[in-house]
Amino acid sequence: MRRASGKNQFFVMSEKIVILDFGSQYTQVIARRVRECNVYSVIIHFNTPATEIAAMKPSGIILSGGPSSVYAKDAPLPDKNIFALGVPVLGVCFGVQLFAQFLGGKVEKGLKREYGKGTLTVKDGSCALFAKLPRSLQVWNSHGDKLTKIPAGFKPVAGTENSEFAAIENREKKFFGLQFHPEVVHTPRGKEIISNFVHGVCGCGKDWTMRNYVEQAVEEIRAQVGKEHVVLGLSGGVDSSVAAALLHKAIGSQLTCIFVNNGLLRAREADVVQQVFGKNFKIKLQYEDASKLFLDRLKGVTDPEKKRKVIGKTFIEVFQEATKRVGQAKFLAQGTLYPDVIESVPIGGNPSALIKSHHNVGGLPKNMKFKLVEPLKCLFKDEVRLLGEELGVPKEIVWRQPFPGPGLAVRILGEVTPARCEILRNADAIVVEEMKLSGLYYKIWQSFAVLLPVRSVGVMGDERTYEYTIAIRAVESQDGMTADWVKLPYDLLEKLASRIINEVKGVNRCVLDITSKPPGTIEWE
Ligand code: XMP
Repeated sequence: MRRASGKNQFFVMSEKIVILDFGSQYTQVIARRVRECNVYSVIIHFNTPATEIAAMKPSGIILSGGPSSVYAKDAPLPDKNIFALGVPVLGVCFGVQLFAQFLGGKVEKGLKREYGKGTLTVKDGSCALFAKLPRSLQVWNSHGDKLTKIPAGFKPVAGTENSEFAAIENREKKFFGLQFHPEVVHTPRGKEIISNFVHGVCGCGKDWTMRNYVEQAVEEIRAQVGKEHVVLGLSGGVDSSVAAALLHKAIGSQLTCIFVNNGLLRAREADVVQQVFGKNFKIKLQYEDASKLFLDRLKGVTDPEKKRKVIGKTFIEVFQEATKRVGQAKFLAQGTLYPDVIESVPIGGNPSALIKSHHNVGGLPKNMKFKLVEPLKCLFKDEVRLLGEELGVPKEIVWRQPFPGPGLAVRILGEVTPARCEILRNADAIVVEEMKLSGLYYKIWQSFAVLLPVRSVGVMGDERTYEYTIAIRAVESQDGMTADWVKLPYDLLEKLASRIINEVKGVNRCVLDITSKPPGTIEWE
């Protein structure tokens, strides 16, 4: 139920690094690395006027990579005046080409695309970017074009096998260019390079912490909300849970959370939410048990898209009705995250963004006359988890695996019936319990059970059985866009299968899903 407000507002931190996005798939990774150095960062569109950037008072600017060539007809180019702001600039990959383009160097098509691991040799160890780093570093390259003449005022400071200008510097102006990607994990010391830039070169402190964030966000929420009341749809997922805890800290009893039981929840889900938020946090919680309505409407529906539509529409109805009972609320709070509001640059486009969007159909309708409060709007997911810990939200919720809005319905193939929900709920509880016991639950992206309504023959004791199949799905992923199946240990698989078949009535066979994404999806639907 996400409807980002769209406007790319940013949190007011006095120190910040501004990242100009030229369409790299790694732009958000750069922003996260900077924040991991405890420095706030914001991503803005590449053609933002230099005057606007100056008004943001950045401590430094990072030019992201991007799939284009600076010489391409429709190359994304920044306002050239950014180089006259007197602010340190770090150009990454395509960012280096921009220095050449604007400050007088030369870029040529490389004979071969440099892709993958390389070894960087630092020739000038006095360059601030490489302070306290060894002279030889493993780096990750991904570029076709290559710098062949460096701009006036620059000096080469490091090279790779393929390029003598893998890192360049204009010390006087504090401009740096890196042909490789310091932000990716395949450049193991890359974070230190970024830290050297933000701390050593730009002089930033370490003020961006979730502890500081709580303080400032609480003030901002109070200023925005005043004495009015706020409603929040609490799903039990990480984002809405952390938003609830933060809002509660800021405005206490002015917050009412609405928790809708759609009948498609996991075992104990409704109890946990009521216990944690109602009893422990003492948040005003309105529990809406609409499971019968949802399951009635799902009767006979087998088409996956149709199921999603029915669930989305019913949710809106139930939620809308529930808000009426809350009374005087003027504000609706949402757990919108930063990646939802970054104005993305489609060049070299990221088609996965399109694939993802179907998940979020059915945002709340515009005619709900609420003003929005989005207190997580400038945070990345990993920051939301840290914020949750800071606020005392239990680990079970803060570090839980993603669970889709339509719940068990996307894990029951064919018709969703109360009996099938019960079977899947029981099987899923075993998967979660065993994954937690094995220590793997918090290490991987998702692990769950899927119900296949195909019956097959089995024997149990002396009896012949004819029951359903459970598929076990466990995947590793960074963001859900791509995923690999996890090679779970055999003894764990054995335990899962034996417990599920023995303990879950209605199941007599267990299989393992070994499909990666692509070509598969994570959920079966
Ligand atoms: P797929 O199945 O498309 O899922 O590979 C990718 C990730 O998205 C989650 N997912 C959803 N999340 N609402 C959500 O909030 C949804 O409707 C939804 N459908 C799938 C899925 O669990 C996986 O992490």
